[in-house]
Amino acid sequence: MSAVQRWRESLESLALPPELLANAPESPWGFAVSLFDRLADEAMATQTPSRRAAAVLLADGGSVLDVGCGGGAASLPLVPLAHRVVGVDESAAMVEAFAARADRLGVSHLEVIGRWPDVAESAPPADVVVCHHVLYNVAALAPFVLALTAAAGRGVVTEQTAGHPLSWLVPLWRRLHGLERPPGPTIDDLLPALEELGIRPQLTRWSQPSPWRAGGDDVVAFVRRRLCLPAARDEEIRAALTAEGVPETREMTTMWWRAVEPA
Ligand SMILES: C[S@@+](CC[C@H](N)C(=O)[O-])C[C@H]1O[C@@H](n2cnc3c(N)ncnc32)[C@H](O)[C@@H]1O
Repeated sequence: MSAVQRWRESLESLALPPELLANAPESPWGFAVSLFDRLADEAMATQTPSRRAAAVLLADGGSVLDVGCGGGAASLPLVPLAHRVVGVDESAAMVEAFAARADRLGVSHLEVIGRWPDVAESAPPADVVVCHHVLYNVAALAPFVLALTAAAGRGVVTEQTAGHPLSWLVPLWRRLHGLERPPGPTIDDLLPALEELGIRPQLTRWSQPSPWRAGGDDVVAFVRRRLCLPAARDEEIRAALTAEGVPETREMTTMWWRAVEPA
């Protein structure tokens, strides 16, 4: 089996049991805008290997396309080196948060609501394409990643956790549902899949504080949603989080590649 196919199957193995999905109080897969707006706040004040890689590609400046932009954590810290930013996201609420932050920064910006790569034609190409914390959502890797490269004049920067971002929930699934869940694919599955697509990225491994380290209501709401639980079980979720612990740090990776490799 090819690495691209293995990537797909590993992500598909994370599908939730249909009876659990049918009774879920809300979609377990949605992202909270407030969380990604807070992460964009933190990103504005933090230098990371991903930000440095994008700055190298931007050199004296240029345009940036942010795929799966959320609140803009990948692209908006690049302003003013980024003199124009385009945010693409399938969530209209995320795109709104992105646009509001770009307005506050006074940078020229454009938004496209829709799924990448379906909407790739509607997004103007840019010097640098950034895509942070999206690839673990992408089972059909080839069209998604090849469209990232095609949209980039100079290069692509992706950032993702080294392990699947939901793997820390495995003990909580066991405790709260009695279910044994797979941990999902990791960066070591992603790299060979990219290689099959002709992409040999520069890879930097690093770590940063986990967005869940503060605990509190945000984490409870996140676990409740992902585990398809009703608010009536919040106390149990709190107890499970205390027993299993919340990650303090997360292992990160930056992968970047040039759109056209120098001869
Ligand atoms: C985990 S969030 C990351 C947001 C932001 N890049 C960051 O690093 O904070 C993933 C975002 O990608 C969006 N997304 C996931 N798959 C997508 C796709 N195929 N096309 C467009 N947006 C997508 C989600 O709506 C969400 O806003």
